Amino acid sequence: MQATRGAGSARIDGEVLIERVLELPGGPLLLELASAREDVDLVGGAVRDLLLGRTPLELDVVVGEEPDLFARELAASARLGGRADDAAAPRLAQHDRFGTALVEWDGARVDVAARRAESYASPGALPEVRSGTVEEDLERRDFTVNAIALALGARRRGQLRAVEHAFADLDAGCLRVLHERSFLDDPTRLLRLWRYAARLRFQPEARTAALAREAVRLRALATVSGSRIGTELRLALREPDPLASLLALQQGGVLAAIHPSLRLAVPERSVHAALRLLPPDGDRVVLLLACVLLSTGDGEARELLGKLDFTAATRERVCDTVRLAPELPVRLQAAARPSELAAAARGAPPEALSLAGALGEERGLDSAAEAARRWLGELRNVRLKITGDDLLDAGLAAGPDIGRRLQTVLEMRLDGTVGDSADAQLEAALRASS
Ligand code: CTP
Repeated sequence: MQATRGAGSARIDGEVLIERVLELPGGPLLLELASAREDVDLVGGAVRDLLLGRTPLELDVVVGEEPDLFARELAASARLGGRADDAAAPRLAQHDRFGTALVEWDGARVDVAARRAESYASPGALPEVRSGTVEEDLERRDFTVNAIALALGARRRGQLRAVEHAFADLDAGCLRVLHERSFLDDPTRLLRLWRYAARLRFQPEARTAALAREAVRLRALATVSGSRIGTELRLALREPDPLASLLALQQGGVLAAIHPSLRLAVPERSVHAALRLLPPDGDRVVLLLACVLLSTGDGEARELLGKLDFTAATRERVCDTVRLAPELPVRLQAAARPSELAAAARGAPPEALSLAGALGEERGLDSAAEAARRWLGELRNVRLKITGDDLLDAGLAAGPDIGRRLQTVLEMRLDGTVGDSADAQLEAALRASS
């Protein structure tokens, strides 16, 4: 254990970090509560990010015992100090297994856990846990840069403790496991390695890279449940630059280790183009999953996504995208009028159209890309000013004829052959042949 970065500078770093904690959502309240005790430390990604000058999204805290009690106190203080409206009321979620608790209020996210020491009964299994010291709690972690603790409590406030190499690795942009068995004990760290490498632009240190390759070769991921792998994969896909994460996972052999047919089957520039085409209601995770499952059959993709615990809605949307995106460019290219474009796009999710636009561009079908852009940005939002009720009020009989007339007028509206007023649309609907 490396107690400090060097007695003098660690003291200064710590004080500067405490100042920064005070500026974070939830920071002042956390420090106020911590000042009454000696056993509160900020740990993990929060300390790493503060030292890197980044803003942590979540504050991970460990306490000596009874994390649930500390979390409840935090939530109660947040309630007292908070605004009166319900939206700002603190939320407290407890996770039983390790007694950890998450408190959220007003932009703050504080995750409270008990300090613990871990041992692994078998590779890939969840660890056996007992309470431990700060040093032991750091020793159980994934990478040195995530194994730094900043004391928040009364007398030790500002004191930094870290595992060996942590500060040097942070300075050098280096990811290093704490011991030789790290990836075998917890193979989900293979996904974490490449996710951090992509996000922080860090490199795995040589021995760590070799251990990661070895764990992949030994099929370590086969010892972990699909659900845990899925959780890490979702984190990778939700990164600010998810494509960088995917590429890192692919280069590290991790995608193929999850499933042999997982591979980025679309050129990088097309993934970027598809992401740019994706409208705000589109789902980036769906789009990226489709990009790595494009050369996989429908059934196989559905089964794999099920094993990885993706929701049924995500599974179906990915499978629709995988099925429709390759054939859509030709149909989009052939659509001369907006109403034909609507017919080609009908039933396809926005992710399929974004990917189709990008694939079209890749294949030299430039008007397919333009059609996808036009459909997603403008035409799919075109609505009529009239409804079936207006046609019933005008004396038409209820039945499928009403729907057909509305469809005809919608096509006319898309093609610009009827105006935007309700009167013009009603007249066109009444004139349309059933
Ligand atoms: N951790 C670990 N092994 C894992 C998961 C987590 O050692 N398989 C430890 C790491 O020290 C990590 C901490 O638990 O820093 C908290 O995990 P998590 O919340 O997933 O990551 P953050 O540290 O918050 O990092 P970020 O959210 O920035 O990815």
